[in-house]
Amino acid sequence: MECKQSFPLVSLPSERVVVITGANQGIGYHTAKWIAMMGATVIIACRSEEKAKQAIDRMNTEFNEEKEKGTKSIVDLKKLNVTFMRLDNASLKSVMTFVDHFKATGLKLHVLICNAGIGRHKQEYTDDGNELIFQVNYLSHFLLTAQLLPIMKTSGPDCRVILVSGGQHIFASFQLDEIQGKQFTEDAFDGLHYYRRSKLYQIMQMFSMNRRLADSNVTVTSLHPGGVETGLLDAFDPVEINIQRQEVRFKSPFEGSWTTINAAVNPALSGVRDVFFCDSKPSTETAGAQARDEFCQEQLWKYTLTCLKDYLSEDVVKTLGWHSTDK
Ligand SMILES: NC(=O)c1ccc[n+]([C@@H]2O[C@H](COP(=O)([O-])OP(=O)(O)OC[C@H]3O[C@@H](n4cnc5c(N)ncnc54)[C@H](OP(=O)(O)O)[C@@H]3O)[C@@H](O)[C@H]2O)c1
Repeated sequence: MECKQSFPLVSLPSERVVVITGANQGIGYHTAKWIAMMGATVIIACRSEEKAKQAIDRMNTEFNEEKEKGTKSIVDLKKLNVTFMRLDNASLKSVMTFVDHFKATGLKLHVLICNAGIGRHKQEYTDDGNELIFQVNYLSHFLLTAQLLPIMKTSGPDCRVILVSGGQHIFASFQLDEIQGKQFTEDAFDGLHYYRRSKLYQIMQMFSMNRRLADSNVTVTSLHPGGVETGLLDAFDPVEINIQRQEVRFKSPFEGSWTTINAAVNPALSGVRDVFFCDSKPSTETAGAQARDEFCQEQLWKYTLTCLKDYLSEDVVKTLGWHSTDK
């Protein structure tokens, strides 16, 4: 089945600032490139400076090719307005350093795309003491969002947080006492389940954060990019992936970026929150019962704040907004 481009080519002012994590390859790369080609200022938050700089060079080469092809509605600039800032989601200190660097630019922030991610992984713990997939895919993005929200709240209308989750979350179960998985031996630890859970937490975060941000200028949405041929698949069982490939055509990385780009730039989505997108459309079949359970969302919220207690001042927690279950 052919995919139809599902994002509008809009013109974005250079004052519109977009931060995207994990944009040196895969879905994030194409998301960053196309948003920059529409005119926005894009900061790619990546753990490897070398890979990020190579990605920016490639984006500019491909941008010039698009200009030569006469692609409509792309910005008329010599070079794209894309810069690199270091962020390693496996380290909470690195998240805080990124936030300091971003604040030092004095820029506003209109769109934050939490895209970086790892797939299935063996049991491993970060220096912060958290299970690796939990921290990289979910916890560090939560900290990043919480720390950048004060800037977003004062950046004018239509600010968006976009959490790149995944359809696999529907196979996950929420069990607070298993979040870190420390009770499991290395052999019993199910890395696939921990990946699925991390994607579930992102959707739960969407709901609990929106509850606190209601009536504000900042919205949170989440999405499934589809099955996409990227490096992430290397982490999964190749036999299972091949079976899936026979059932559905996996998207190219560019096609896989469309739902994210749409969530970030489509003017019709201004003010839209609490939506889980799939193929750029609100999806009802996904974001199922587990993700929508408010009690579980609030349990996760409280646990998350506990994990981040050394990194979230009272002021930042206040800016997150207040909900009746908060003390
Ligand atoms: N591909 C799919 O079928 C699929 C399906 C559903 C959801 N998703 C989601 O889509 C998002 C993008 O994945 P992708 O498919 O584009 O995979 P990818 O090509 O492997 O890209 C993942 C990106 O995340 C970065 N990253 C990994 N660990 C990081 C860390 N500790 N700190 C900062 N950045 C880190 C990677 O950087 P390095 O290059 O340095 O490793 C890379 O830029 C992920 O959140 C994934 O869960 C993908």
